[in-house]
Amino acid sequence: MARLVKLEATGPVKVDPSDKPVFVCACGLSKKFPFCDGSHKPTRSEEPGCVYRYSGESNEQVEKVDHAG
Ligand code: FES
Repeated sequence: MARLVKLEATGPVKVDPSDKPVFVCACGLSKKFPFCDGSHKPTRSEEPGCVYRYSGESNEQVEKVDHAG
């Protein structure tokens, strides 16, 4: 079953349970979910008011829909 998830985070959530921090993915692109693997980097250039679709295999941006205006 396919699923479309709307997320707007552009980086991980830092969890600091002890002396070693843990970074939890908040962007939805990590291949090691729930942990951040750096796949959020393409989201840093996203523009407000747009919806982006990423490839499930490469995490490359494959579609941008501008809802502004
Ligand atoms: S926050 Fe999702 S991969 Fe880093």
